[in-house]
Amino acid sequence: MDRRKFIKTGVLATAGLSLSAGSLFSSSCMGANNRIVLALVGCGGRGLGTIINCCKINSDVVIKTVCDVNKTKLAKAVSNVEKDLGYKPSATENMDEIFKDKDVDAVWVATPEHWHTLASIRAIQAGKDVYVEKNPTINIWEGRKLVEATYKYKRIVQVGFQNRSALYGFSAREYIRSGKLGKIVTVKCYNMLGGGKWSEAPETAVPGWLDWDKWLGPAPMRGFSPSIVDENGRGGWLSYWDYSGGGLADDASHVMDLARLVIGDPDHPKSVYGWGGNHVFGGTRETPEYQSIVYDFGDFTMSCDNAYATNYMTKTPNDIRMDKTKFPNWRNNSTRTEIYGTEGLMYLGRHGGGWQVLGKDNQIVAEDGGVFPDKEHQIDFIESLRSRKTPNGEVEQCHKSATLVHLGNIAYRTGNKQLLFDPATEKILNDKQANVLARGKYRKGYEIPEKV
Ligand SMILES: NC(=O)c1ccc[n+]([C@@H]2O[C@H](COP(=O)([O-])OP(=O)(O)OC[C@H]3O[C@@H](n4cnc5c(N)ncnc54)[C@H](O)[C@@H]3O)[C@@H](O)[C@H]2O)c1
Repeated sequence: MDRRKFIKTGVLATAGLSLSAGSLFSSSCMGANNRIVLALVGCGGRGLGTIINCCKINSDVVIKTVCDVNKTKLAKAVSNVEKDLGYKPSATENMDEIFKDKDVDAVWVATPEHWHTLASIRAIQAGKDVYVEKNPTINIWEGRKLVEATYKYKRIVQVGFQNRSALYGFSAREYIRSGKLGKIVTVKCYNMLGGGKWSEAPETAVPGWLDWDKWLGPAPMRGFSPSIVDENGRGGWLSYWDYSGGGLADDASHVMDLARLVIGDPDHPKSVYGWGGNHVFGGTRETPEYQSIVYDFGDFTMSCDNAYATNYMTKTPNDIRMDKTKFPNWRNNSTRTEIYGTEGLMYLGRHGGGWQVLGKDNQIVAEDGGVFPDKEHQIDFIESLRSRKTPNGEVEQCHKSATLVHLGNIAYRTGNKQLLFDPATEKILNDKQANVLARGKYRKGYEIPEKV
């Protein structure tokens, strides 16, 4: 669609305004009117929901283009933006068109994980700022490339670890920094979700609504299975190493990232021990239904238990997520962290829920309520675009949180074993195959360059 037609079908036309096309979307007028022009790559439920919300809660932020390789979701994205924001964005199946578009200030990357870093680096190299969903990377090496690209091209990159914008996370960090919890002994992260048996359905012809080659992108070419991608929903790509880091990446990453923030963002661990498997339901999923990981940080340990098998546990209910005065029932809360200090035990919620410290005799000695901070993270991104301040979801720290996911998965994939890690070089010291997994492989035409 050419620009004139695009604007005519958009908000200006419906509002009967006589502004030129440039007035709505040209970034050249950003200085004049502070307008920010966004584009979305990956129009699943998450990307579409968050980018539309971001435009609703921040003034003068618009979506110029939506991009997806799934025609059904692309059409839905156009109509949802029109319904919710009052104008029709342009649509493309090729993200490069967005990167070439001078009007676009920032790209919102909400594809499956195997595309996150590649799309972000291409956007950064084209001069765009980026909001990239978690887990931002699919291996350790590309995480370092994302950090290097962000700083080389001086871009704002907000990683979608939204808990980094939680006010209760900051107060918990302050409580620990003040010494009131004593010295940290151990940090236990839980992501104990429900699940069931999962197996891949037989391959079929590629459906007409999907560009399978582009969906695979950097991942190896293989036949299409409806188990991997769904026309309307998410599909099962989280069950495959080629497209994700499984449950650790999907949800446990949030728990561990918030835990790292609260204890003061420690550097990488020195070693990791990982165990897991499909011991409960069986099935053919590659990313296991249960994992138990222990990280050695030198003077304390962190552990993470991740399950798709504990159906009786509950995520923080919605009324508590959005109410600063309520706390979850920690005992059956599926996404909590327990921070054991020498002076007390801090329970910390990851879907809002705030934190409480238990001292001697089962007494609550300190607490702060807190809400789920999706909105705050979106506001922080826009403030960072305008002021050029470092965003809360800062790329180096988020790379370190993502590295916990990768180390846990690599330890499992190389045989449920302990791996020694060198924080300085980000290399695994005692297993060759582990370093191959930490580096990842890219299909021809979809490589991330060594020098970004
Ligand atoms: N921060 C959070 O709390 C949170 C919550 C949910 C999901 N997420 C993350 O957001 C991301 C998206 O999640 P979702 O549930 O919407 O998944 P989804 O699979 O439904 O959506 C991803 C979309 O990306 C599209 N896509 C794939 N390759 C593409 C390409 N080359 N170009 C353009 N589009 C392409 C797919 O067709 C799909 O529509 C995931 O990485 C997920 O982990 C984060």
